[in-house]
Amino acid sequence: MTTAPSLLFKTHPHPTRIADDQRAELLLSPGFGRVFTDHMVTIRYSETKGWHEAEIGPRGPITLDPAAAVLHYAQEIFEGLKAYKADDGRILMFQPEANARRFQQSAERLAMPALPEALFVEALEQLVRVDAAWIPDGAGSLYLRPFMIATEVFLGVKPSAEYLFIVIASPVGSYFKNQTGSLSVWVSDDYSRAAPGGTGAAKCGGNYAASLLAQAEATAHECDQVVFLDAVERRWVEELGGMNIFFVFDDGSIRTPALGGTILHGITRSAVIALARARRLEVREEAYSIEQWREDAASGRLREVFACGTAAVIAAIGQVRSRQGDFTVGNGEEGELTGTLRAELTDIQRGRSEDTHGWTHPVS
Ligand code: PLP
Ligand code: COI
Repeated sequence: MTTAPSLLFKTHPHPTRIADDQRAELLLSPGFGRVFTDHMVTIRYSETKGWHEAEIGPRGPITLDPAAAVLHYAQEIFEGLKAYKADDGRILMFQPEANARRFQQSAERLAMPALPEALFVEALEQLVRVDAAWIPDGAGSLYLRPFMIATEVFLGVKPSAEYLFIVIASPVGSYFKNQTGSLSVWVSDDYSRAAPGGTGAAKCGGNYAASLLAQAEATAHECDQVVFLDAVERRWVEELGGMNIFFVFDDGSIRTPALGGTILHGITRSAVIALARARRLEVREEAYSIEQWREDAASGRLREVFACGTAAVIAAIGQVRSRQGDFTVGNGEEGELTGTLRAELTDIQRGRSEDTHGWTHPVS
């Protein structure tokens, strides 16, 4: 772990926080990503000063010069993780160090400076502490969104010399409108998310911008998510617009596409692999084709398919739609292992079961 550079966070508490009764009402049914807490963290970077001006203050609009590099060349990266309120009152973040490391890897790919791991985690802790009242009870959580933008005022195409790191927080419930039941997915024939040598393994805004048209096509076909195939042969399943994917077979083995530079290495994906291996299930990180998916669903060899990610948690996929025809996985409903793994993961995240993996990070 990188040691914390001595950066003192200046705190400017919000002069008019949202009133308790208003907040309580917002927390009743927050949905995903539309409700925000009172504060945000900002840290600046410049080539001359390094990381400086760490502040925690009221959440609000930021001012950017219209020539700021991010607005033209999309030099932006982000992360997503959650903080939970445990039954015993503790606040637990799930693997913030893993997000810090992935943020550094994304930064490297986008030619941005590496934010030290300890500073990343400290920024999250500061925000969670000041806005702890915003963590929903019950099944909800506080979604944390750290991100970094290029702020140099210059239209030449080169890595920016200045950056702004921000963390905002949003109390959330389910990512999907349909909170129960399984997901339907649309297999995109026309669009690729990432190509070899591209930015698929980085969590940069540009990847999501490139996915929106395919996601809109999925929505037009009444599907929850788009499935992206590899950009070269257009047959290997890679991942969904905002989550990784797992296949469960009748012999008890499970499979997920291998990380090859075009897929985001999900932190939930790694946790699922560890949980499945702890149950002595065989986990293969291997390519799986759309033809095989269709064939295995028809033969019954394929028992369950699920999506996983911070926002999605673990969600069954029941229906698959594509130009080549639709098919159903199993009886279209959530399978047993999907439910078991979700319960196991969420119990650890919420401090309801022992965390033998060292995944939870208490905030005091
Ligand atoms: N794949 C994509 C494209 C994502 O946006 C996400 C969500 O962050 C994931 C996978 C899952 O990653 P994680 O489990 O770290 O949230
Ligand atoms: C996350 O799960 O954190 C993501 O970034 C994915 C997105 C669907 C919100």
